[in-house]
This record gives sequence, structure tokens and C-alpha cells, in this order.
Amino acid sequence: MEKVRLYDQSSVAYDRRYRQIQRVKYQALAPYLQEGPLVDVGVGTGIGLRTLLKARPVVGVDGSIEMLRLARKLVTAYDAGRAIACLVCAEATELPFRANSFLTAVSVTMLQNLTDVSKGVGELVRTTHPGGILGITALERSLPLHQLEAFTMSGTALVARLTDLANEDTGLILRRVAIDS
Ligand SMILES: C[S@@+](CC[C@H](N)C(=O)[O-])C[C@H]1O[C@@H](n2cnc3c(N)ncnc32)[C@H](O)[C@@H]1O
Repeated sequence: MEKVRLYDQSSVAYDRRYRQIQRVKYQALAPYLQEGPLVDVGVGTGIGLRTLLKARPVVGVDGSIEMLRLARKLVTAYDAGRAIACLVCAEATELPFRANSFLTAVSVTMLQNLTDVSKGVGELVRTTHPGGILGITALERSLPLHQLEAFTMSGTALVARLTDLANEDTGLILRRVAIDS
């Protein structure tokens, strides 16, 4: 979680600097979002919330309380009391949800922060319902697409590869399959 402390310290600057760039990445995932419960692991300041809420309800998870503080303002603005979005402060490698909880799981520019990427991907897979969709992106320079793909072999089938997201991320769209199929 040491990287998370850096996000705690830079939340306001992050939000200002990366708003446009990160939106492009979330918009690339938009065509694949399923209607129904969705989790965004590493929701950050909530830059993707407007896009994600189309597939509501949304649970945003992040380890940085300061990033979530900014996301809270957006949830209040977009949600307008309808209780279709909630935020949870938690570690990406130990998600506090039952297996198969969500129809879509997304994680945008978060996985390259993890010491144990495999565990983070495993949690995304575990909490996605069979038949559901995972949309994950990472900084290509830190976690190249072929490495990311190697972490996602178990329990998923490849739907699409995403390249050149805002000139810095690559990603995968995966379908969750039953582990024994
Ligand atoms: C580059 S930001 C991306 C935020 C958001 N997805 C976006 O696109 O704007 C990475 C986020 O992952 C969170 N994060 C990093 N490591 C984490 C961990 N181990 N557990 C939970 N969140 C983590 C950080 O706090 C930060 O908000």
C-alpha cells in the first residue's frame, strides 16, 4: 500500500492533471459494460464515474482515502440521492466482497501499482460473476500488455485487446468463465 500514500498526498493535483486523459480510457471500456452491479477497483477521484454509472449500480474501491474524498463529491453530484453508487476504502488484493458479486469489474491504470499483480487480477476475477465482463488497463511502460495478459489466464476468456489508450495504457476485455469450464 506504499503507493497509495503517494496518491493520498497528490489527490488534488492528480484529479486536475489526469482528468481528460483518464476519461479517454474509461470511454474505451464503455461499449463493454454490462447493465448491473459494477465494481471499479482503484476508482481514484471518480473520473470514470459518469461513464460507469450508465451501467449502474457502481461500487468504487480505492486504498487512498484522499482520492475517495474527491470521488465522494462526484458521487453526491451525479447520484443525487438515488444510492446507485458507493465508495469503499480497501486494498485491491483483498477485496471485501463475496465471489461472483458483480456483472462487470473494471480497473483503470491501477494494476501497475501492485507488488502482487496476480493477486489483484485474481480478486477482480473472483468477484466477477461467470458470464460477466472485466475491463482492465495498465500503464504499458510499467506493465506491458503481454505481462498483463499472462496474469489473466485463469478463469477468463479474451474478448478484446485495447491498445494506445491516451498514448499510455493498454488493456484487456475479458469474459469471466466458470473456473472448471
Ligand atoms: C493512476 S490512479 C487511477 C485512478 C482512476 N482509476 C482513474 O483512472 O483516474 C491509481 C489508483 O489506484 C489506487 N491504488 C493503488 N494501489 C492500490 C492498492 N493496493 N489498493 C487499492 N487501491 C490502490 C490509488 O490510490 C489510485 O487512486
